[in-house]
Amino acid sequence: MPGGGVIITGTTDTSRIEAPVTIKAYFICAFAAFGGIFFGYDTGWMGGVLAMPYFIRQYTGLQYPDPNDKAAVTAFHLPASDQSLTTSILSCGTFFGALIAGDLADMIGRRTTIITGCGIFTIGCILEVASTGLGVMVAGRLIAGLGVGFISAIVILYMSEIAPRKVRGAVVAGYQFCITIGILLANCVVYATQKRDDTGSYRIPIAVQFLWAIILAIGLFLLPESPRYFVKKGKLEKAAKALSEVRGQAIDSDYIQDELAEIIANHEYEMQVIPQTSWIGSWTNCFRGSIFKGVSNSRRTTVGVLMQMMQQLTGINFIFYFGTVFFTSLGTISNPFLITLITTLVNVCSTPISFWTVERFGRRKILIVGATGMVIMQFIVGIIGVTAGQESKNNHAAVSAMVAFICFNISFFAATWGPCAWVVIGEIFPLPIRSRGVGISTSSNWFWNCIIAVITPYLVGTGPGDANLGAKVFFLWGSLCCLSLALAYIFVPETNGLSLEQVDKMMEETTARHTAKWVPHSTFAQEMGLTNKGVSISAPTEEIKAAVIQHEMKNDTEKL
Ligand code: BGC
Repeated sequence: MPGGGVIITGTTDTSRIEAPVTIKAYFICAFAAFGGIFFGYDTGWMGGVLAMPYFIRQYTGLQYPDPNDKAAVTAFHLPASDQSLTTSILSCGTFFGALIAGDLADMIGRRTTIITGCGIFTIGCILEVASTGLGVMVAGRLIAGLGVGFISAIVILYMSEIAPRKVRGAVVAGYQFCITIGILLANCVVYATQKRDDTGSYRIPIAVQFLWAIILAIGLFLLPESPRYFVKKGKLEKAAKALSEVRGQAIDSDYIQDELAEIIANHEYEMQVIPQTSWIGSWTNCFRGSIFKGVSNSRRTTVGVLMQMMQQLTGINFIFYFGTVFFTSLGTISNPFLITLITTLVNVCSTPISFWTVERFGRRKILIVGATGMVIMQFIVGIIGVTAGQESKNNHAAVSAMVAFICFNISFFAATWGPCAWVVIGEIFPLPIRSRGVGISTSSNWFWNCIIAVITPYLVGTGPGDANLGAKVFFLWGSLCCLSLALAYIFVPETNGLSLEQVDKMMEETTARHTAKWVPHSTFAQEMGLTNKGVSISAPTEEIKAAVIQHEMKNDTEKL
């Protein structure tokens, strides 16, 4: 065998396509989830900083108002257009960052792309910290956003590719947990510095982010690359080494052989189905095939994009971005900041429920239950809001009930759509288009995130031309959750407990609604002939193709 060393042969046993996992391997996955802190923290600090008196004075040149002068107090804020620009420019950066990262992750690797994201993010942060005017701040936000885009897309990809199939959902839910902790930490730091009368008021919350970048970059530098990336690149020796590290098993063990053979065979199979052409061709591959066929790439990309769109259209960020303003408008709440902090805490505490439910009940069921729960909770909030909870009625009990149902709504989101939207996009794409598919889906999240940030002030605003929806806005989110429910029921496959290669096979053989009943019955290694033809892991991809052709010819001869 050329190159000597380890020879891999696959297995026909569908239960052996993944090596057993050690504690160390679990820690590797758990660490990657840390990337969620960026996402959460970076979306969390801006709202608070924009309302800081020192920040407003510095940016607008206005003097601190006399607390008794109501008109001066009301006028003391950043112009709405500047607020909108500084908030949404981040989503603009993240949108493009996620798309670019989808490309880079296939060229330079998942790990290196995330580390590059940390570097870009740090440059953005330096500009943000150094800024004393809007221009530099906006430039910093845009660059930091690019970095967050890299990290938010590729951490999902990396985690999905290295996590053991039995806990993959829970591991990716850990990423969502880190997002919620990031939001909470940002709120706490901003709360602690908001009254300072110096640049530390905004510089401290921004500078804290350097810490996240350093921890994630150093950590990932020490972690192994995704073995699936090396398989895609045809570097099988490196793939075997990475897999043995990720699983904590000897490189020449049967476990590593079987799992690697399955990944290789699946990739070879997919490469036959999805031709690799030019750079543009590799992007258009994501949209190949009929959207009406469950297995087509265009269908998978559409499901990924819609999942992330509907996650945003649940209206969750209405609460996190505009909660304080909304709670103030209800009239009877004396400390709206506290209520906002409570909602953030509910978000953190409810997310771990998904670690268990996503594996116990599967993705489809919890998405369906979550969407149903959110429809009910949001309609209740809307109904109370237009009846007993109206501001003019000054009914404290009704307003408290609204806050309680908003918290239940957050719980439903945090335990279901929050994590599951990320879990699903990490699982539904075949290896040749996976990084781009995840990138496109993640940019959909940021696109809709931006749309919500831009339009919501007008939906609930009371100024001329504003829709002034007030609590009625919950009818809108509730109705949109009906669409989320339909999406989950009709289009989301059940991927629970399967390897990514088995997910691929399942999507070929059955429709989303029937996936929960599908059981693996053969391996790709068996189908591609890697069970009876060993391949040296130092062999180039051509040699595997030759092995496959030889196997097919043997089969044909036997048939004759
Ligand atoms: C969403 C964010 C949201 C967060 C809340 C994430 O999954 O993508 O937009 O702010 O969850 O926990």
